[in-house]
Amino acid sequence: MRIAVYPGSFDPITNGHLDIIERASKVFDKVVVGVLRNKSKKPKFTAEERVGLIERVTAHLDNVETDSFDGLLVNFAKTHHASVIIKGLRTVNDFEYEFQMALLNKALDSECETMFMMTNSKYSYISSSMVNELAGYKGDLSELVPNEIIPDIKKKYE
Ligand code: COA
Repeated sequence: MRIAVYPGSFDPITNGHLDIIERASKVFDKVVVGVLRNKSKKPKFTAEERVGLIERVTAHLDNVETDSFDGLLVNFAKTHHASVIIKGLRTVNDFEYEFQMALLNKALDSECETMFMMTNSKYSYISSSMVNELAGYKGDLSELVPNEIIPDIKKKYE
């Protein structure tokens, strides 16, 4: 069975992340979304909230599950018997950092492959911080995140 992990902070999950998850779920037998807990950026949503939001928007995908993790990504992948790390690339700006991370993870675990998926162009401008900033200004989030989680995000900014 081909298992992949899709890691990130998902603070919160966006349409861009969901697009990658949906496409990866067609390529792999199972996709485990990994929510990083110990983030140096102070997350707006707790790890439990972030996992909950992802579980809701991926409920239609039978082969996707979500878990949170601390520490090294390669260890999280091993725990879930995943041999592939999926990362989304939005613009060339993402490339250098992702390239470094992929090499580092390969050095830490030679069995672990990183595979990149190009983010759908209509989502290439989205990031979680932009969602948070817009939510802080009470802006329209409907283009950026799945509709069913908009009330949860708005509630954070009441
Ligand atoms: N659509 C929309 N937004 C996307 C996206 C996509 N397809 N892909 C990435 N983004 C956004 C994210 O929302 C995030 O936005 P933000 O900075 O506003 O929060 C930004 O792009 C960066 O994303 P990413 O590069 O995935 O970083 P991350 O912080 O979400 O996650 C980990 C980084 C978890 C993968 C990484 O820190 C990690 O592996 N940590 C574990 C420790 C470890 O093993 N380190 C390596 C060895 S030391």
